[in-house]
Amino acid sequence: MTWYEDDDFWHLFEPLLFDAERLGAAEAECEAIIDLTHLQAKADVLDLAAGVGRHAVPFAQRGHQVTAVDRTTHYLDKAKARAKSAGVSLELVAEDMRHFSRPQSYDLALNLYTSFGFFSDEQDNLRVAENLYHSLRPDGYAVLEMTSKEILARDWRERDWRESAEGALILEERKVKDHFSRASCRWLMVTKSGCRREYCFEHRLYSASELVALLTQAGFGEVKIYGDLEGAPFDQEASRMVAVAKA
Ligand SMILES: C[S@@+](CC[C@H](N)C(=O)[O-])C[C@H]1O[C@@H](n2cnc3c(N)ncnc32)[C@H](O)[C@@H]1O
Repeated sequence: MTWYEDDDFWHLFEPLLFDAERLGAAEAECEAIIDLTHLQAKADVLDLAAGVGRHAVPFAQRGHQVTAVDRTTHYLDKAKARAKSAGVSLELVAEDMRHFSRPQSYDLALNLYTSFGFFSDEQDNLRVAENLYHSLRPDGYAVLEMTSKEILARDWRERDWRESAEGALILEERKVKDHFSRASCRWLMVTKSGCRREYCFEHRLYSASELVALLTQAGFGEVKIYGDLEGAPFDQEASRMVAVAKA
């Protein structure tokens, strides 16, 4: 089983991936995406690798029809509960992002929080980009947000540790490999009761120009790269890599 197919991984690290700060930031991130793409009121939205629906729900609250796709059904259950308590509905699809494509059905297609580049075969990463492209109506936008090779190199830390709200200690260890084209990560969690769990995973690292090339190959016409979702320049101070690609 590959790491991203391991439900235990996503379950165990859910409190780390979706802590209160990250969940709380989503509302402003959605507003920023709306501004960045000049999204129209009735636009249809696809969130590919939607996780627990932290963006899908705010878009639905703004009146958009939203399809949230993710392979982790536990996360889709969380998205459903989140939508219910917000009084909105989402279309929830349990599907691998390599296989979800709904031609010309959306005005905005999202892939956020480093949910791109999971696959060791670069053709699979290209296929995800093609799925975003083909799912968009003409002149629709895809927004991808991730860390980049440039940012990782600038802010390099081989190890980090933090404590979850539940008191678990989490050690993150990372290395780059294959000529800086991949990040290899080890996450170790020691719970309050002393239980130790360890997971290793890898993902592709893109520079801005590599991401532009891949999205162009997938069919996108115009690709702009920003340094955050507010549209800051992608320069030496960029905090994230955000691609806004026009279908
Ligand atoms: C870092 S989370 C990001 C979630 C969401 N985009 C957000 O910003 O909160 C990555 C997500 O990718 C999903 N995922 C991993 N592999 C996948 C695959 N092959 N197909 C679809 N989703 C996948 C995981 O279940 C997880 O929800």
